[in-house]
Amino acid sequence: MTPPPGVPARTQVAVLGAGPAGLVLAALLAREGVDCVVLELRSRSHVESRVRAGALEPGTVALLRELGVGERLDATAMVSHQFELRIDGERHVLPVTELSGQPMYVYGQQEVVADLVAHRLAAGHPLLFEAEALAVEGIAGAAPTVRYRYEGVERTLTADVVVGADGFHGVGRRTVAAARVFTRDYPIAWLGLLVDAPPSGRDVVYAFSRSGLGMHSMRSPTLTRLYLQVPATDTFADWPEDRIWAQLHTRLSAEGWSLTEGPVLERAIAPLRAYVSDTMRAGRLFLAGDAAHIVPPTGAKGLNLAVRDVRVLAPALVALLRGDPALADAYTATCLQHVWWAMSFSCGMARLLHASGDPFEDSLRAAELRGLATREPGRRMLAEDYCGVRP
Ligand code: FAD
Ligand code: DHB
Repeated sequence: MTPPPGVPARTQVAVLGAGPAGLVLAALLAREGVDCVVLELRSRSHVESRVRAGALEPGTVALLRELGVGERLDATAMVSHQFELRIDGERHVLPVTELSGQPMYVYGQQEVVADLVAHRLAAGHPLLFEAEALAVEGIAGAAPTVRYRYEGVERTLTADVVVGADGFHGVGRRTVAAARVFTRDYPIAWLGLLVDAPPSGRDVVYAFSRSGLGMHSMRSPTLTRLYLQVPATDTFADWPEDRIWAQLHTRLSAEGWSLTEGPVLERAIAPLRAYVSDTMRAGRLFLAGDAAHIVPPTGAKGLNLAVRDVRVLAPALVALLRGDPALADAYTATCLQHVWWAMSFSCGMARLLHASGDPFEDSLRAAELRGLATREPGRRMLAEDYCGVRP
């Protein structure tokens, strides 16, 4: 059927998903004069309010600035020169800027998405919300098509290349038959809270305690982000507010630090999972971000990894469209290097920071964390991996 105005039927790159991976890729391609259409399942207000990650590596921030979407970030992001590792109440400050040469930034993922959406729409580039990709077909040929539903009508978008940046549950991952997947399911989930209260300090705090991990982060001078390790089988019914606050106070407790309470604005339970597909491309369909890999959140790497993927993918697609397939052919192998580095850091932190309930195992964890936090090589490694700055 003929597409209505503003709904293209043909493009160079069809991007599924307006998360960080899809939107940063679209911005990188627009800069190179490559046409793309972004299809997003959810509404604009939904993607701009969905509370998720918050810690941005300096490399991610530098790229956002380079793309012209750093203005609001620079005005409102919290620059994080250090974080705190709390081990059974013992406080260890990790001065990341001093040790790695660069700070981290705390700025909500939904703000990054909102900035990229505004930038794309202001330039008049196509981005359809509430457009559900249903299937990707013909990926072995030169003109793959995306079947999608928009305004209640099923439509077709033909492209030179399709990118599945549609997350773990999207059609991209289902369409690429991975040669091998690597998975680890944890018996743990994170209960995440957005609280209407000023942060209890200026630092992100990762607290290992015998009752489980507690985490303190922030979103603005008046909004606190908090996390609790909970069993993967728990539901909100298991976590009434008084239990949440009691556990946060217990797990984050330390001399000279007190937790400020406030009304809970948002809560979510996210299971911890590790997943890597060793195949990020099938013919003319490429995967990026959560569609290809999931890391446990302990390293704050999910969003940053998605950005690393598309930083590799954009020049590969530009070259492919000009007839040179070398970078596209190397795409999976190039990405798997940063994916496994991030996985190693995130799984290592997940193993150390979550309590198991076994006193012997948990004492080993505390001792290992103390060893890392108090000796120079461990401190430097933590700071460099946290910032994504590798020597
Ligand atoms: P996404 O952000 O998931 O974007 C994919 C987009 O595709 C979505 O907008 C989705 O609506 C859209 N989509 C899906 N299916 C279709 C379809 N069929 N057609 C069209 N569009 C589709 N990481 C951290 O580092 N720290 C955290 O605290 C943290 N918290 C998280 C909490 C939750 C609940 C979740 C789900 C993830 C969290 N993450 C966290 C991980 C981090 O947010 C992700 O790694 C990051 O969002 C990856 O970006 P992405 O663009 O690959 O995928
Ligand atoms: C935040 C989330 C993380 O997973 C993390 O490791 C650090 C900070 C946050 O939401 O602010």
